[in-house]
Amino acid sequence: MYGVEIRYLLRRLPTLALGLVACLGACLPAAAQEGKGDVVYVPTPQIVVDSMLNMAKLGPQDYLIDLGSGDGRVVVTATKNYGARALGVDLDQQLLQLARETARLSGVSERARFVEQNLFETDLSGATVITSYLLPSMNLKLRPKLLALPPGTRIVTHDYHFGDWIPDERKTLDVPEKKVGDPGKSYVYLWVVPEQVEGNWQLDLTQLQLDLPGIPAKSAVQLTQRFQMIEGQWLAGSVRMALQRARVSGKQISFQLPLGDILRMLSGATQMRPAVPAAARPVFGPQAVLEFDGRRDGNVLRGEVRIRRQDGGAVVSNARAWSAVMVDMRLAPVRTP
Ligand SMILES: C[S@@+](CC[C@H](N)C(=O)[O-])C[C@H]1O[C@@H](n2cnc3c(N)ncnc32)[C@H](O)[C@@H]1O
Repeated sequence: MYGVEIRYLLRRLPTLALGLVACLGACLPAAAQEGKGDVVYVPTPQIVVDSMLNMAKLGPQDYLIDLGSGDGRVVVTATKNYGARALGVDLDQQLLQLARETARLSGVSERARFVEQNLFETDLSGATVITSYLLPSMNLKLRPKLLALPPGTRIVTHDYHFGDWIPDERKTLDVPEKKVGDPGKSYVYLWVVPEQVEGNWQLDLTQLQLDLPGIPAKSAVQLTQRFQMIEGQWLAGSVRMALQRARVSGKQISFQLPLGDILRMLSGATQMRPAVPAAARPVFGPQAVLEFDGRRDGNVLRGEVRIRRQDGGAVVSNARAWSAVMVDMRLAPVRTP
């Protein structure tokens, strides 16, 4: 593998040197070799490739697409070391040829494909993991397409991010041999495409009434969303409560409600009876939260709710099913500026 790579690098030395000079600035240069692509070829160091694929928790069930695949090292590593299927796209025919040859020598040609294609036009359907080492402006251009992928799709990048879409995970690696970007350092970022949950939902807590007889069976939840961050309100009659620790992680939604405040407010609300028998209040009282987690299934959110002592304390109830039906969904995809 390395013989092929060294022969290729020697052949392309002038181009690479040019690229390197242009790369010594804050980020990769905007003009590509042969004038075809939007960024020159700079390989991701192998230690960083390994870290990216580990962060993605890549496995044999995955289909990875590397956008701008260069010499194919991400795709070959994904297929050879993780058993995944993978596709690399690039505009540089020599790099594509090198990548195919490396895949052949590594015995992974059946699962590693390389195609000559503009990465902005690549069909990403079916991909469970997307990787890239591209300029921030290219990432931003790709962002709407990535956010439209099925919730749970993982996106891992080297060095560059997606503007104000905050990564779900990040890692800094010492890479002494790296001369571009931030010399000696590599940054690895992971994003998980979030489920879209913004809108108004009618909440059914009938099962929770087994533990909290006074809790209303029907109430409402209003959610606003920005990428994986959500904020919201729980509304029951005149009672209104901000959701706590609300977030979407891929397909999973979770939030909490302060049980003590709810009981107090429900007791105070003229139209409601006290929410919980007095004897049970010390157990479920001010130190407890209602902890919801669930998933969206079409127009319904479904999941489990538990009573937990605050700050990650013990669960003090059975898990009870909850569901929420979409009342008016904001049909727009996750909002972007
Ligand atoms: C910085 S290199 C990264 C290579 C590889 N992914 C890695 O991490 O080692 C970027 C690659 O993107 C390719 N590229 C640039 N613009 C492209 C475009 N519009 N479509 C497809 N490939 C492109 C370049 O030819 C180059 O190989």
